[in-house]
Amino acid sequence: MKTTKIHIILFCLSIFVLFSCNQKKEAKIESITIDQPKMVLDLLDLQKNDKLGKDTLVTVINDPVYHKTKKYQAVSASDIVKNEVDLSKIKIKNTIIVFECIDGYKPEMPLELFLKAKPYLAFKDVDAPKDSNWERIVKNGNEMNADPFYLVYTSVSANNQEYKWPYNVIKFHLEPKNKNIVALQPKDNETTMKGFTLFQKHCITCHAINGIGGEMGPELNYPKNVTEYWKENELIDYIVNPASFRHKVKMPTLGITKQQSEEIIDYLKYMSERKKSD
Ligand code: HEC
Repeated sequence: MKTTKIHIILFCLSIFVLFSCNQKKEAKIESITIDQPKMVLDLLDLQKNDKLGKDTLVTVINDPVYHKTKKYQAVSASDIVKNEVDLSKIKIKNTIIVFECIDGYKPEMPLELFLKAKPYLAFKDVDAPKDSNWERIVKNGNEMNADPFYLVYTSVSANNQEYKWPYNVIKFHLEPKNKNIVALQPKDNETTMKGFTLFQKHCITCHAINGIGGEMGPELNYPKNVTEYWKENELIDYIVNPASFRHKVKMPTLGITKQQSEEIIDYLKYMSERKKSD
């Protein structure tokens, strides 16, 4: 009699364990609850309405854009988010902050990391020439400046890729962490996963697929997938070294190997059969 009881208990336990494992796999992506209008912070609007907070002078040692020590007039970027968004209403751990730049570049980082890093929004370069707010930035033969805002840190190493230092920033977006992954991840195909992971890491800040991603470079899937109009061997080489194809190219050389380039192209081909406009 006793043994049967134990058996029943063990049986129930194993069912429970099995059930909870399954649950985990199918767990829904939790969405953040946040008032719609506050999802996007328009920094120029806030500046116009005098809502950027108090000015301070910050010193950045080894600035990654100017490659030297720099001084800026700035405001606290984390205070802007704290003042404009009720953080008690959102799940900070499940949220990313996306920095929208004038040219469509859209790097992102976890909101939690951003809030802890003491980020500053610089609006004026102390060493700027008289006719400008900034020293000029020269990149691949293109000249530009950091207007209107440049995101900097005083206590974070510029070598740490987790922290983003975008300039020409105009908006902050708060979004659920998994939004892009859910929409663009290969669902029924494991071989394209490698390419997908590489694309998330190196490309999505500048390129969209089905309208999701950055806008500095062209959308790569809709209406025509880039693999439909480029010769494959040329495309492989282009992704490895864009400057060997185009003069004054804006797309950087990202350190992608030939094999990684092929994996990304496998993923792009896979997405060409899954086109959707945004
Ligand atoms: C910093 C932004 C940036 C990043 C990161 C970037 N690209 Fe680009 N890409 C561009 C821009 C801008 C262009 C348009 C041509 C130019 O000016 O360089 C471009 C052009 C392209 C083109 C040619 C499109 C066409 O229709 O001719 C392809 C293909 C491409 N990129 C693929 C990639 C892939 C794959 C990655 C990731 C490994 C990537 N890019 C990362 C900015 C970027």
